[in-house]
Amino acid sequence: MNAALEYLGAIPWWLWIVIILAIVAIRDVFFQRKHTVSHNFPIIGHLRYLLESIGPEMRQYFVANNREELPFNRIERSWIYASAKKENNYEGFGTDRDIYAHQHIFINNAMMPYQIDKDHPNAIDKTFVPCAKVMGIYNKRRKPYRPASIINVSAMSFGSLSAKAVESLNKGVKIANAYHNTGEGGLSPYHSNGGDVIFHFGTGYFGVRSDDGGFAMEKLIKLVEDNPFIRAIEVKLSQGAKPGKGGVLPGKKISKEIAKIRGVEVGKDVLSPPNHKAFSNVPELVDFVEAIAEATGLPVGIKAAIGKLEQWEELAQIMKTKNQGPDFITVDGGEGGTGAAPPSFADHVSLPWVYGFSDIYKLFQNYGLTERIVFIGSGKLGFPAKAAMAFAMGVDCINVAREAMMSIGCIQAQICHTNRCPTGIATQNKWLQNGINVPLKSERLAQYFNTFKKEVIEISHASGYEHPCQFDMDDIEMNVDDHHLSKEFDQTFKYEKTPVEFNGMKSLKECQYLGGNYSNN
Ligand SMILES: Cc1cc2nc3c(=O)[nH]c(=O)nc-3n(C[C@H](O)[C@H](O)[C@H](O)COP(=O)(O)O)c2cc1C
Repeated sequence: MNAALEYLGAIPWWLWIVIILAIVAIRDVFFQRKHTVSHNFPIIGHLRYLLESIGPEMRQYFVANNREELPFNRIERSWIYASAKKENNYEGFGTDRDIYAHQHIFINNAMMPYQIDKDHPNAIDKTFVPCAKVMGIYNKRRKPYRPASIINVSAMSFGSLSAKAVESLNKGVKIANAYHNTGEGGLSPYHSNGGDVIFHFGTGYFGVRSDDGGFAMEKLIKLVEDNPFIRAIEVKLSQGAKPGKGGVLPGKKISKEIAKIRGVEVGKDVLSPPNHKAFSNVPELVDFVEAIAEATGLPVGIKAAIGKLEQWEELAQIMKTKNQGPDFITVDGGEGGTGAAPPSFADHVSLPWVYGFSDIYKLFQNYGLTERIVFIGSGKLGFPAKAAMAFAMGVDCINVAREAMMSIGCIQAQICHTNRCPTGIATQNKWLQNGINVPLKSERLAQYFNTFKKEVIEISHASGYEHPCQFDMDDIEMNVDDHHLSKEFDQTFKYEKTPVEFNGMKSLKECQYLGGNYSNN
């Protein structure tokens, strides 16, 4: 034995390298048939796979320019990171964007900005900007809700996000007076740390699921009774990244904890079909919404990505004639994110946000319904100027998913679907999530939200307004190559926004339905 070790020890290091390379070459040529490149080019063929695997990171860090990457470019990501860390988020020397470029958006500023007096709510709190509408007030729900923040966390489930990420988001929304949408995976203990919650479910009915995979109203009633921080319910019809696409939650991802929260069996594949079992057409959807609102007392909304308009038209007709229907509508853009979706769906199915939202808003406006619906927008809207544009088009609140993830450390590795998220946010791997410092990350989410709100207020003031709900379609212009050709939004999208009833920030502050931590709840 000693002699053998001595013999091996005498082999020089460079000969070891030659031996290892020879073994790899023999394996490449004679023992593997899966990879043609490494068979035909033993050893060096591996370089191709290595470079391909680190290519995205190399491009992101060294090659791509500041405005080039998608879904979020470096300037956008850096603004979120700096805002979340309370660092300097300004840029020096002026914009690096080509502001003459086609489709560039301009906000028309006033000659003199809106001025606040000494006891204005924003003189006391620069981040106070609740939703200008109250969810559920028109339909006389028993528990109307005014979101206390215009920016909120969009649907992302515990399951697609880690426990620590969900907990950080929930604690963060509590600090920022925002709400937290649960996503499709049911209400977990990590959603229950004090923030307002919108309970969301899709075709899997996770958390409110009957034994046969249908919807169990009695479970929803109990859930709402046991968890008074649930302020509204959202029924998911579709999302921008994969409208009409069902999904399978593989059994191996279903731990005891996830099974309990979702109401499914441990280790057994669970199907989320493309369609709901609880309703199969638009009149039944309206009945379903009304039944939930009646049983829980909460405002009920729907979330969807937009494409064809016929069924929306039918919904508007029913809402008009029966005086019933959703209290809020969340419009998700085709550019929306997901934990996992086929590229064909993510890239091509459903309209980009501005097209989808303008279609829907116009349609509901034609039926005189816009005042009674709270419109929520999602799809890369977590930036103050984009938000101003969305408000001008008619949204009342904004939901953010990936921007919220970035504020708690997401680096846009784009591998949410692999369970290998390096930042511990979109994975169930315990080791990877252990790196998340929940108190620090919740502060960061709150800081990002507060910076966002402060800047939206400042942009509103710059345009002569007190609240972003006052933005109108002719406040925003889109570049079509020459100023005389550039069209105001009302001409581009062919509608005027219905003015939102707004009686000053003070009246919002005194509202009895105001959510968050404000004292008059
Ligand atoms: C990791 C992840 C999980 C998501 N899970 C859900 C979900 O459960 N239900 C849903 O309706 N949308 C889901 N979405 C979509 C988001 O809620 C949101 O609509 C979309 O990402 C657009 O917002 P963003 O551009 O701010 O990311 C998810 C998105 C991500 C990134």
